[in-house]
Amino acid sequence: MRLLLLGYGKMGQMIDQMATSKGHDIVARINIDNRAELETLDTSSIDAAIDFSQPQAAVNNIKWCIDHQIPVAVGTTGWLDQKAVLDAYCTEKQGTYLYSSNFSIGVNIFFKVNSFLAGLMDGQKDYDVSMNEIHHTQKLDAPSGTAITLAEGIIENLSRKDSWVNDSKARENELLISSERIDPTPGTHAISYNSPIDSIDIRHTAHGREGFASGAIFVAEWIVNQRGVLTMDDFLSF
Ligand SMILES: NC(=O)c1ccc[n+]([C@@H]2O[C@H](COP(=O)([O-])OP(=O)(O)OC[C@H]3O[C@@H](n4cnc5c(N)ncnc54)[C@H](O)[C@@H]3O)[C@@H](O)[C@H]2O)c1
Repeated sequence: MRLLLLGYGKMGQMIDQMATSKGHDIVARINIDNRAELETLDTSSIDAAIDFSQPQAAVNNIKWCIDHQIPVAVGTTGWLDQKAVLDAYCTEKQGTYLYSSNFSIGVNIFFKVNSFLAGLMDGQKDYDVSMNEIHHTQKLDAPSGTAITLAEGIIENLSRKDSWVNDSKARENELLISSERIDPTPGTHAISYNSPIDSIDIRHTAHGREGFASGAIFVAEWIVNQRGVLTMDDFLSF
């Protein structure tokens, strides 16, 4: 597969190593400094792109891929307020992209466990729920994109919560997400249900970035023959 890397920081470099060792060709490695290279690329020879850039860059990168009919797997977080507009753009232009706040297979299983547990807790009013996420200090957005996906899974299944806040306290209808930035944490997410009688905690701890990188490469391999606005559920057939 001929692969374009948009963003060449910690994730882009790891994806480069893993994709190259799987036999894929990296057509270009685009960073903030060499964006002009995009204009010289033979876009018809690119099978797929992977974007792990920065929140303010992701939307333009995805639009560029859609405009050039290059399917793109997007891991960059922190731009979700523009996703509805981008989904409509992709549909109108018959492009292809898949955004996932977290490409690790373990986290996607954790998303399912989280939604299931929230559903079980819907009738158990004595339990309040909160979330904690920890990442390295270079992370630009808070709460993490993964935390937002987890929060959406809770809000969809637990009728006493209708929104989330990333603050020190929350109203009764709000899910409290606390964020900590501690090096070198790759990503830890914990959800706690607390009642006066007991507590139930679920936690996902990433031991490194490999799971995110390998998941993104699997998706890029798959997305070449797909069309439209896609999700990890489409990929994993959950
Ligand atoms: N979805 C997931 O599984 C997952 C996993 C890890 C990280 N992330 C997210 O991926 C993103 C990147 O993470 P990282 O740790 O590699 O960050 P990083 O800061 O190490 O790298 C980001 C890179 O993007 C480049 N960049 C900035 N503007 C650009 C532009 N206009 N075009 C192309 N490149 C540009 C920067 O030069 C930088 O090298 C972050 O948003 C992070 O939260 C997602």
